[in-house]
Amino acid sequence: MLVEKNVPLEPWNTFHIVAKAHFLLRVASCADVQQVVADPNWGSVQKFVLGGGSNIVLTGDVKALVLKVEIMGRRLLSETDQNYVVEAGAGENWHDFVSWTLDQGYPGLENLALIPGTVGASPVQNIGAYGLELQDRFDSLDAVDLQSGVVFSLNAAQCGFGYRDSVFKHGAACAVQGDAVRPLGLAGRALITAVRYRLPKSWRPIVGYADLERKILDTGVAQPSARQIYDWICEIRCGKLPDPAVLGNVGSFFKNPTVTPEQCADIIARDPKLVHYPLSDGSVKLAAGWLIDACGWRGKSVGQAGVYEKQALVLVNRGGATGGEVTTLAKAIQTSVYERFGIRLEPEPLVV
Ligand code: EPU
Repeated sequence: MLVEKNVPLEPWNTFHIVAKAHFLLRVASCADVQQVVADPNWGSVQKFVLGGGSNIVLTGDVKALVLKVEIMGRRLLSETDQNYVVEAGAGENWHDFVSWTLDQGYPGLENLALIPGTVGASPVQNIGAYGLELQDRFDSLDAVDLQSGVVFSLNAAQCGFGYRDSVFKHGAACAVQGDAVRPLGLAGRALITAVRYRLPKSWRPIVGYADLERKILDTGVAQPSARQIYDWICEIRCGKLPDPAVLGNVGSFFKNPTVTPEQCADIIARDPKLVHYPLSDGSVKLAAGWLIDACGWRGKSVGQAGVYEKQALVLVNRGGATGGEVTTLAKAIQTSVYERFGIRLEPEPLVV
């Protein structure tokens, strides 16, 4: 077991914030995780699971033992009349995996192309884009308990998926909401080793999102293939989201907030251009990017942390930004959105 010391994390977080891991272990298998858990020196030490680093803001050196997930492999696990079930190691790059599924003839993940990060992070965030969420294609996952080393599997219900949410983002407390009991949170307690996706053979394109409808109108391709949608998604994302390899970022910095129809009507009375989407449960989702933009933040900066010019929901590292600058900028944005609209924006990434 080779624990590396003082490892620079700049290449392994997509914000490219300069920070070090005091101790870092690369894990290539479930057995590697069980070995560290059983180790007398490292077993009881606090651990931090690092995937693609595409959803974290580092505000200093990481003192916990960083477990860098490098568990690879992808395969067709099973096939029925209805579905393909494909499995991938948690360390696989998400976008490469999506491309591979299409190359193999298993469509269904194309709307989630180009999302930065790893396969293992996909259920943690319940990643979503362009009318599709991971939970729509999720089958199950395998994980290791970081205290006991016990291996376990979870199905979709056990993952407690919500909008950019799952049991992996919550602590151990068991929250009771009405009659619904939330599953015990697993934040910091488990390392996901493999994820399985259920891809229906009765594939249908998902093109309800405005940007995709526009592509259909512009190109005249009314019945796009999965490959065509994949290409469109890549074009759309490249057009409005910065490439983390060029300009550090973690995608959307805040979640899109949900409000009551009354709150929405109240804001529209003052700001008729508010971008909003009625949801099936009667609530209304607001475009956080629009709220931030309306407060004049697009293109602004705090130190080297900035608000992306083409999408105000994305914060970027203009070169050498610190985690403190990013969180200061985020707090200033939250304050002005709250003062103008009475809405509290909730950050998407984990501040470490
Ligand atoms: N808008 C503005 N000004 C801005 C940015 C956006 O007015 O500066 C308006 C746009 O005009 C548009 C609306 O806000 O009408 C929504 O913008 P967009 O279509 O870019 O989507 P989004 O709601 O900002 C969400 C996800 C993205 C995902 C896209 C496409 C969240 C927090 N973000 O962004 O996910 O790619 O929809 O489905 O739900 C991510 O989570 O990291 C992410 C990139």
